Amino acid sequence: MSRQEVILSQNLQESLEQAIGKCPHDKLFVLADECTARLCLPLIREATCLKDAQYITIGATDTHKTLETLATVWKALSDQGATRHSLMLNVGGGMVTDLGGFAASTFKRGIAYINIPTTLLAMVDASVGGKTGINFNGLKNEIGVFAPAKSVLIDTNFLRTLDYQNLVSGYAEMLKHGLISTTEHWAELLNFDFNQVDYAALQTLVAKSVRIKEDIVEQDPLEHGIRKALNLGHTVGHAFESLALEEERPHLHGYAVAWGMVCELYLSHLKTGFPADKMRQTIQFIRETYGRFYFDCKQYDRLYQLMTHDKKNTSGIINFTLLGEVGDIRINQTATRKEIDEMLDFYREAMG
Ligand code: GLY
Repeated sequence: MSRQEVILSQNLQESLEQAIGKCPHDKLFVLADECTARLCLPLIREATCLKDAQYITIGATDTHKTLETLATVWKALSDQGATRHSLMLNVGGGMVTDLGGFAASTFKRGIAYINIPTTLLAMVDASVGGKTGINFNGLKNEIGVFAPAKSVLIDTNFLRTLDYQNLVSGYAEMLKHGLISTTEHWAELLNFDFNQVDYAALQTLVAKSVRIKEDIVEQDPLEHGIRKALNLGHTVGHAFESLALEEERPHLHGYAVAWGMVCELYLSHLKTGFPADKMRQTIQFIRETYGRFYFDCKQYDRLYQLMTHDKKNTSGIINFTLLGEVGDIRINQTATRKEIDEMLDFYREAMG
């Protein structure tokens, strides 16, 4: 898999001119959702390199991360004469970069693309590392391919207009990066004050977070081993997210991941000796920042079933990424149904 260039940009138009300059192309397409087209495109539209660009707009939010939306993007590319030498620029949150990356990497067997993430979640996770795809059959990211962007241009100025929910949603992935890296980084993440956001400090934390992800992806781009570390919190988190969607009370991805981390830190404590004090401190931060996801024991069967759909599983056995300590990653862990029920009991009590 080719390496992608991740730029923490101080001047987005300049970075964009440079990134596009490195990608010879015949036509340039810009994909954005309804919100980013209105709020974010004006910030780059004047760039000389975009003067002949053609624009494609799709519906916003995860509900549009579908086969139907994907088909509209393929159709727009086809109708507007895109060739194998065309270039796509995805401007938006994780939904746009995932779907746009998938559209680009499958159109005429693959055209080059560049990501400009506009949400925290997309900056520190979705747009970096080459995972692309769409939701399908009620399951998150069920269909997709690994296909890295040529460049990812991160401008943290976009974060200044992000609402609290979207800010903390992305922060959950940063907290995950803290847990899988060093005690120092984990501790500084727990100290961040969302009541008075210091954007300069956030920018520094974002830079560290992106480097942690890049380092892991570089070691294992196709997720045969250590990249599974990035799934901490996601086995249970995806189950929470899917259950919430089924019950028509959807939650942002990062919220589900944060609640999933509560569960998986408990499993880590139970099975791989993660220290109780660090588990409690992390849970307290998550409870205060994200509130809780409500369910009762009648929903345990459905949550268990949803966990069995996780992409890391083999032969239907649920595969967890756990920790022995902050930074001590234990991939390919399993748990019995009894331990999973106990974990869900713990969650309801600890988050109560
Ligand atoms: N979001 C997890 C990964 O990129 O592997």
